[in-house]
Amino acid sequence: MSLLQRLTALVGDAFVAEGADASAGQVVPSQRPELAQFQCNGAMGASKALGRNPRDLAEAVIARLDPSTFVETSVAGPGFINLAISGEALAAAIEAMHGDERVGHQMAGDPRAIVVDYGGPNVAKSMHVGHLRATIIGDSLKRIARFVGHRVWGDAHFGDWGTQMGQTIVGIAERYPDLPFFAADYDSEQNVDIPITLDDLQEIYPDVSRRAKEDEELAAAARKATLELQQGRPGYRDLWRHLYDVSLEAQRADFTDLGVEFDLWFGESTVHDRCAPIISNGQQAGVAVEDQGALVVHVDLPGDNREWPPLILAKSDGAYTYGTTDVATVDYRADELDAGEAWYVVDARQADHFEQVFRAARKLGVAPASMVLDHVKFGTMNGPDGRPFKTREGGILKLRDLIDMVTEAAMKRIEAQDLGADMEKDERFAIARQVGLAALKYGDLQNHRASDYMFDLDRFVSFDGKTGPYLQYAAVRIKSILRRVAEEGIEPGRAAAPINDGDEALMLQLVRLPEVIDRSLDSRAPNHIAEYTFELAAVFNRFYEQCHILSESDPIVQASWVTLVETTLAALTLLLDLLGIEVPARM
Ligand code: ARG
Repeated sequence: MSLLQRLTALVGDAFVAEGADASAGQVVPSQRPELAQFQCNGAMGASKALGRNPRDLAEAVIARLDPSTFVETSVAGPGFINLAISGEALAAAIEAMHGDERVGHQMAGDPRAIVVDYGGPNVAKSMHVGHLRATIIGDSLKRIARFVGHRVWGDAHFGDWGTQMGQTIVGIAERYPDLPFFAADYDSEQNVDIPITLDDLQEIYPDVSRRAKEDEELAAAARKATLELQQGRPGYRDLWRHLYDVSLEAQRADFTDLGVEFDLWFGESTVHDRCAPIISNGQQAGVAVEDQGALVVHVDLPGDNREWPPLILAKSDGAYTYGTTDVATVDYRADELDAGEAWYVVDARQADHFEQVFRAARKLGVAPASMVLDHVKFGTMNGPDGRPFKTREGGILKLRDLIDMVTEAAMKRIEAQDLGADMEKDERFAIARQVGLAALKYGDLQNHRASDYMFDLDRFVSFDGKTGPYLQYAAVRIKSILRRVAEEGIEPGRAAAPINDGDEALMLQLVRLPEVIDRSLDSRAPNHIAEYTFELAAVFNRFYEQCHILSESDPIVQASWVTLVETTLAALTLLLDLLGIEVPARM
C-alpha cells in the first residue's frame, strides 16, 4: 500500500467511527506544504450528510488519529484537516519503496483486458502528425496500463481495406498496365516480379486521390476496384498482398526505430469475414436498414442535442467502409480477445466517427453493455506557422525524416555541450538517437493530450528546462553519483527521518509516485507522469545541493541518503520508461 493509501485508510477509519463514509478520508498532498505535508478535505462533504458542523466533525476525526503516525494535526478554515506525519513514518515509506521493484506502486487488484488501438498507419499512405501523436501517446498508455497490472494488447489497426486501396490499384494499373494482376483471366499460380516500392506508392496514391476529386470516372473506377478487392478478385488480392507487405515492413521498421512495438498488427481487412454476418444479423433485428440504396445504422439517441448522420455499413455498391470494419473490429475484440475495454488513441478530428461506431456497435449488439469503448482524443502538433507540422516544404511528415531530424539536432546539442567527447562515433550516434527521441516524445507528452502544441525542436532538444534530454541527463547524473558513492565504499542503509528541507522535499515527492501513475492511467493522460518526473528531477537537484553525501559525517544519515538517491533513480527510470524514453548508459 502506498503512503497516501495508508493515510487515507487511517483517516477513513476515523470518519467511519464518526458515522461517515470511509471515502471522506481521502488524503492528498497538501496545497500549503509549509503548514503540513498532507491534507484531507472530506469533512465538509461528510458533515452535510450527518447534519453536523464540519469543523466539529474534523476535530472529532483528528481526536481519533494515532498520534504516533501524525505528529501534528489541525483544522483549518471551514474544516480542512492538515496532517503532518512523523519523519519516521516518512522514512518507513521510503524504505518500503527502496526495496520494491515496483517502487511502491501496488499492482491493480482488478486486472482488466484492454486493447490500445494506436498508431493507425495505412497501406500506401505516408504517416502524418496525427499518426505520430497517436504513436507516442498510445505507446505510453500501453506501458502504463501494463505496468499497473492490466492485460494489454497494442494494436496498430492497419488501414488496409478502404478506398485508398482501390485508388492505389487503379494508379498502378495506369502505370504498370503490363502487370498480370489486372487481366480477367489472372492466374494466381504465376510468380510475378513486382517493381513497386513504398516510395512509388507514396507518389501513386496521393496522385490518384487528388485527381479522383475532380475526375468522376477515375473515382468510380477506384470505388469499383475497392469493391472487387473486398469481394476477392484474385489479381487484386495478390497485388494487395504485395502492397500490404511493402508498407508493413517499412512502417514497422520506422516504429521500431521510434522504440514502439505493437502486439497485434491487425488491419481493417482482418475482420472482413465478420462484416457480412454483422450486417445480416443487424438487418434481421431491424437495426441495419436501407437508406438511399446503402445499408446504415441510425445512431441518434433520445436526448441528443445535435444530429448524428447514420453509420454506413455497406455502400450502395456493397462495399464496406471505415465504419464497417471498425464495428467488426469491436466484435473481434469482444469476441476473440475477450477484451473488456478498447481505447482508441486517435486524432480528435475523428470524434464523430468513433461516436457513430460506438453507438452502432452497441445497437448491433456487437459490444456488450459492460465493454468500455473510449476515444482517447488528442489535438494537433503544429509547426511554427500554427498549421499541422510538416517536415518538408509542402510535403507531409515522414516518420523517417522526423527521426533523422531530431537525431541530428540532438547530435549538435551533444557536441555543443561537449558530452561524450571520448566516445566512439557509433556510441555517440546511438545516444543522439535516444536523446532525439526523448526530445520528441517528451515534447509531446508534457502537454495534456487534448491540447495542440507547437513542435519546437530547439526547445525540445535542450538540456535545460522541461525537456526529455534534461530528464535523461538527470538520470545519467544520478547514476554517476551512485558510482562515485560506491567507489568511496559508502553503502545504502536504512532510510532515516529527514534532517533538512532538501531531503524532506525529496521524500515527499517520492511517496506521491504511485498515485501519479494511477491518475495518468485513470485519465488516460501521460502528462501527469511527465510533469511529476520533471518535478522529481528538480527536487532531486535541490536535495543534492543541500545534502552533501560524500562529506556527510553522520554515517546513518549518509547511508540513508544513498538509499534516497537509489530510490530516486529507480523512480526516474521507471517513469521515463512509462513515457517510452530510454536512459542512456552514460552521456
Ligand atoms: N488508419 C486511420 C487513419 O489513418 C487510423 C486508425 C485508427 N483506429 C481505428 N480503429 N479507426 O486515420
